[in-house]
Amino acid sequence: MKLFVVLFILFGSSKGANILGIFPFPYFSHATLHHSYMKALTDRGHSATIITTYLGDYGTNPNVTQIHLPKSVEIHKNHTDMLMYKRKNLSWWDIMVNYEMKSYMKAIEYEMELPEIQDLIHNSSKYKFDLIIIECYFCPYLNIADIYDCPIVILGSSDVPAAVHELMGNAIDPTEYCESEFLPFMHNQMSIPQQFYSTFVYLYQSSVHRLYYHIKSRLLDRKYFGHIVTNYDVNAMSRIAMLMTNTNQAFGHVRPLMPDTIQIGLSHIRDPKDIEDKELMKFLDESQNGVLVIALGSRADPKSLGIENVKKFMSAFNQTNMNVLWKLHGVDEGVEVAENVKIVTWMPLFDVMAHPNVKLLIFHGGLLTSYEAIDREVPMIVFPLVFDQYINTRHMARNGVALEMDLNNFDDASLVKAIGEMRKPLYAENIKKLRNLVYDLPISSKELVIWRIEKVLKS
Ligand SMILES: *[C@@H]1O[C@H](CO)[C@@H](O)[C@H](O)[C@H]1NC(C)=O
Ligand SMILES: *[C@@H]1O[C@H](CO)[C@@H](O)[C@H](O)[C@H]1NC(C)=O
Ligand SMILES: *[C@@H]1O[C@H](CO)[C@@H](O)[C@H](O)[C@H]1NC(C)=O
Ligand SMILES: *[C@@H]1O[C@H](CO)[C@@H](O)[C@H](O)[C@H]1NC(C)=O
Ligand SMILES: *[C@@H]1O[C@H](CO)[C@@H](O)[C@H](O)[C@H]1NC(C)=O
Repeated sequence: MKLFVVLFILFGSSKGANILGIFPFPYFSHATLHHSYMKALTDRGHSATIITTYLGDYGTNPNVTQIHLPKSVEIHKNHTDMLMYKRKNLSWWDIMVNYEMKSYMKAIEYEMELPEIQDLIHNSSKYKFDLIIIECYFCPYLNIADIYDCPIVILGSSDVPAAVHELMGNAIDPTEYCESEFLPFMHNQMSIPQQFYSTFVYLYQSSVHRLYYHIKSRLLDRKYFGHIVTNYDVNAMSRIAMLMTNTNQAFGHVRPLMPDTIQIGLSHIRDPKDIEDKELMKFLDESQNGVLVIALGSRADPKSLGIENVKKFMSAFNQTNMNVLWKLHGVDEGVEVAENVKIVTWMPLFDVMAHPNVKLLIFHGGLLTSYEAIDREVPMIVFPLVFDQYINTRHMARNGVALEMDLNNFDDASLVKAIGEMRKPLYAENIKKLRNLVYDLPISSKELVIWRIEKVLKS
């Protein structure tokens, strides 16, 4: 009987691994990406505990536990605002030091104190993990790998900071590869002044990563992990088995990488789902002249966007023959909504873009949405606000699938002109071509992710 139990346990545990997913980034699109991998892994019989800011849909799978962090999203929303950064023309330094880092640290401290996280840290005998998949580069969470004595896979929702590339042994050269998410310089195409500026920002940011985050992390380690973890740097960092960046060569992410770094861009793309909202479906179906979809940021707050900008957009939309679907949290009194404009507070953007009548997207250039628009072959007008949105836009403009505009410097006439331009068949052809290129891989990035993660589990 005893032997039978032992055999059963051995057999059972070899079938599926226990994976801990740690995804504290407070963006809906990042969560979409994380859940797409965790779903693929749990569908293959692995069990997962997932720390996430937005809950994923795992049906009735009994082997999935989610630890939800809605308050981290709230902390982030209260302390940061992309539209405001842009409209106030804040410098990258100001954004990084006074907004992003502060809200990040506040959220981490709140998370570390949660009973569920404390339980993972201090009651480790209750759990067993074979692998940690994490998007959190310099943070106390990495210590959990030491407690459970397991490898780490790092997953980036875009490219990752230079310090992470360094850990993986990837070549760093800020005069060739722009290492800062704040600079819109193309790899291998920087002018001499851009090379100097890129080097300066690289040195500054990597000092911040090395000094500020490491010291702060150590203080947090001591506070939340106590005596359990003694050698944070060496122990946690040496456990990193693989890095996955959400990049794609055809899109423009070309740089030398070691074999343990893989590029998995577009792997989160799923098949489109039916749109459940009947009214929205009717609007899309009946738009004979095509639909322009506009979604500027997850918050889409008209106050952040600015009343003068709302009016400019509205006036331009009033002059096109397309119907417009606009994600916006209400309009101020005094703004007349044009007849061809439908305002919604939320929409399933990817599924909406799958509708054949959707012909144009206006957004801020976030990487995941860019990939989704390429997948659905919807040309874009982009108003980048911050971070990699500028470089994403330039990669797409170079491929002839997007046009860049400046939120601080446009009027209704220039927008009407841009809409007319992007409706030319040339752009639809270009995006079809780019779609073929980004998917032209010997193995789909989705399969690659699963294969490589299971390889880490086996080794
Ligand atoms: C849950 O895990 C058990 C034990 O590993 C396994 O037998 C079962 O098939 C898993 N269920 C699902 C839905 O994956
Ligand atoms: C966020 O701001 C709102 C409104 O000011 C406030 O009620 C709420 O407590 C804040 N939340 C956090 C987590 O700071
Ligand atoms: C924004 O700031 C940059 C650098 O600080 C400056 O060169 C530019 O003129 C500013 N633009 C506006 C619209 O204020
Ligand atoms: C450890 O687990 C016990 C029993 O489940 C629980 O009472 C205790 O609060 C947990 N400790 C922490 C630090 O979460
Ligand atoms: C749209 O344009 C028409 C005339 O061209 C004008 O009468 C109407 O007020 C405009 N609507 C908005 C919302 O600007």
